[in-house]
Amino acid sequence: MKELELTQPISWLDGVDPRTGRIIQEGHPQKGQSIAGKVLRIPHSSGSTVGAYTFFALKEYGTAPAKIILRKADSVTISAELAGIPVEIEGSKEVKLDAEVPEEFRRFLEREASIVGAEEFVKVRSVHVSGVSYATIGDWGRKWLSKISEGVMVSVTATSNPAGMDILNWREMGVPDDFAEGQLEIVEHLTRMGVIPSLTCTPYLAGNLPRRGEHISWGESSAVAFANSIIGARTNREGGVKTIVSAVTGLTPKYGMHLDENRSPDLKVEVDSKGWSYLDYTLLGYLTGEESPSSVPCYTVTGDLDDLKGLGAGGAASGSIEMFDLGSCLVDMTLRFSHADLEELRERMSSFEGGTDLVAIGCPHLSLNQLREISLELSGRKVKVPFWLYTSRAALAQLPKPMLTSLERAGVKVWADTCMVVSPLERMGIRKVTTNSAKAAKYLRSLRGLEVELLRIKEIVERYTSPS
Ligand code: F3S
Repeated sequence: MKELELTQPISWLDGVDPRTGRIIQEGHPQKGQSIAGKVLRIPHSSGSTVGAYTFFALKEYGTAPAKIILRKADSVTISAELAGIPVEIEGSKEVKLDAEVPEEFRRFLEREASIVGAEEFVKVRSVHVSGVSYATIGDWGRKWLSKISEGVMVSVTATSNPAGMDILNWREMGVPDDFAEGQLEIVEHLTRMGVIPSLTCTPYLAGNLPRRGEHISWGESSAVAFANSIIGARTNREGGVKTIVSAVTGLTPKYGMHLDENRSPDLKVEVDSKGWSYLDYTLLGYLTGEESPSSVPCYTVTGDLDDLKGLGAGGAASGSIEMFDLGSCLVDMTLRFSHADLEELRERMSSFEGGTDLVAIGCPHLSLNQLREISLELSGRKVKVPFWLYTSRAALAQLPKPMLTSLERAGVKVWADTCMVVSPLERMGIRKVTTNSAKAAKYLRSLRGLEVELLRIKEIVERYTSPS
């Protein structure tokens, strides 16, 4: 059987075209090569946890690899087992799970534990399910959830990631009917299993707030970074499919970020964050993820919780950074980034300047505080182009009415349940999007095929609004 060795991590969500089995990840050394039918050796995966659903698509199109051999365990890639693609790590041994759980899920958990070399399982306090948008999991995900949801219920608190549309106002958004039908069905399957339709990538701001030290099993790479780094809970970057397994069984193998020895910084990142805007934090995370994709960095930055949310999202999008620390640390390796480095990345990720179709802000979802700041920034102004903000239903419900009215008076739309990346913008007549998040910029280009302009919020306000 033919073998293919990938010399860099692969992003399953947008790095492989399931229709052809070819690698399409920008800058990947093996770009253009096919993984179909091959024994695929990879270091580990990078980027979004929703990529776990790509394995079903590869199977459906007959382009799946015959086997995947991992150098480093990662839950996203191990999810391929549930789609019937064998995954191995050299030298792994068998582990047995002694618990009453559905047979298919027992086999998966035992397989995962043996692949990663875990000797036991831990009970998880909560789960955050990723892979909720019809735009990312498609019909293969919809079918799997339909089958699974018939016979199982979640056994722990389980929240869900954003859907592909505002569940209440999708018509107003311009979402096509056929998409809405698929999306509503997916949410229905999840709800039937007992998953809370929080539909946000900031579950920690929407009622799913673990305690420090608690074991959890979360998908959504930005929320994973936040949970490990800021909350102090313990989770690996779980694949979307695996989050369903953990939600039902309440279990996960004890390895990776669940163990003390993997939670210490191994890289120092020096920057001067004086005067930074939200975009700069996302760029810093992204640069670090590019340079050192599986590190636990300690950053010499100061910033508020929203800035750190953006920092984590950036590092988890370009790399697979699951945890970071703040302040100084004693390690052998140091990276230094200057303002010019961030600016170079901003330019590299931007493909146009001026004349956008849509300003889209809220990756990860905006907090109440950020909504307030943007509303102040826009006070006395009127937008010149469609200007959309994305937040959670939980934050939107708490937004004081005068603030919402003032945003609406400026011409801004505030959507809940969804975001610019997981909604089908390309089917809604949008070609060019302006945003202030490196993660959004990456996926708007690679997943949605759109042109991107990456700017700081002040620049966006200057360019796309005028005094009212
Ligand atoms: Fe959240 Fe969408 Fe960004 S899910 S992290 S807003 S890509």
